Amino acid sequence: MKQDTILVTGASSGIGRSIALALARPGALLHLGGRDPTRLRDVAERCAGRGASVRAHRQDVRDRAGMEEWIGGVGALDLVFACAGITASTARPAGREAPCEPDGQVRRMMDTNLGGVINTVLPALAVQARQDRDADGVRGRICALASVAAYVSFPGTPSYCASKAAVDRFMVATGGNMAREGILMSSVCCGFVRSPMTAANRFPMPGLTEVDDAVSAILRGVAAGRRRIAFPWWLAAGSRAMDLLPPRLADAFYFRQPAGRAGSMPETGGGTA
Ligand SMILES: NC(=O)c1ccc[n+]([C@@H]2O[C@H](COP(=O)([O-])OP(=O)(O)OC[C@H]3O[C@@H](n4cnc5c(N)ncnc54)[C@H](OP(=O)(O)O)[C@@H]3O)[C@@H](O)[C@H]2O)c1
Repeated sequence: MKQDTILVTGASSGIGRSIALALARPGALLHLGGRDPTRLRDVAERCAGRGASVRAHRQDVRDRAGMEEWIGGVGALDLVFACAGITASTARPAGREAPCEPDGQVRRMMDTNLGGVINTVLPALAVQARQDRDADGVRGRICALASVAAYVSFPGTPSYCASKAAVDRFMVATGGNMAREGILMSSVCCGFVRSPMTAANRFPMPGLTEVDDAVSAILRGVAAGRRRIAFPWWLAAGSRAMDLLPPRLADAFYFRQPAGRAGSMPETGGGTA
């Protein structure tokens, strides 16, 4: 897999950080995006310490014009990873009967998780469409982080599940068209990965994967041109099976899970993978 020029959003933390470090080597040029300047600088310095050339860029993925300017201006892109994302769960606001997600949270989730991926993928496709094919006939590869949450209607994190379902469908469906053009797209439907995102979770996380193991699986899948990279396989398969149940039956299971008792979670942080 050609991996000389690489762009990563969400590079300041967790999975994106680990991808950047894994791909940092002499001869590689890394474009790293994030918002937190201190953490972004730290990752950039570590990647440079491994011999890579690094351009760190403070960028909110919700800013469409800023993303187009950044990605459109970097030149060649062999690999793009759209990792930036947030999670949050339902809460029971004071005086309200039913747990719900605040308006602002739902919109922030969609703008970041779905809008941010679109703001990354569309300019990246435009860049890669102009590139020559390599010896394998590939112009470039684009990978976005969805989640196994894409497969389920989990009452603890409705907008997270919805945003990830949209990311997964968008990547897999668009990838079918783009493969013919020499651009390979991958959607990552992973379960729980140990990162700052899951650090606040106070419930059992079945199949919790170490971040470096998750990144190895992601990079293997991207190199193999897999349209969907799902792991652990049993969690992905179980989640898909749950989605075949009538919603009321599935609810009966979800509401028995510690993280599924909507209203018991803080407004931000916590939730599904
Ligand atoms: N960890 C899991 O169990 C798990 C499982 C399945 C899927 N995923 C997905 O994998 C991706 C990475 O998750 P993670 O575990 O690495 O989480 P994380 O450690 O919390 O990192 C999230 C990253 O997203 C960036 N980000 C968030 N909002 C942003 C915005 N508006 N603009 C630009 N950057 C923004 C953060 O940047 P700053 O900190 O600089 O703001 C940070 O670099 C997410 O899409 C997540 O949904 C995670």
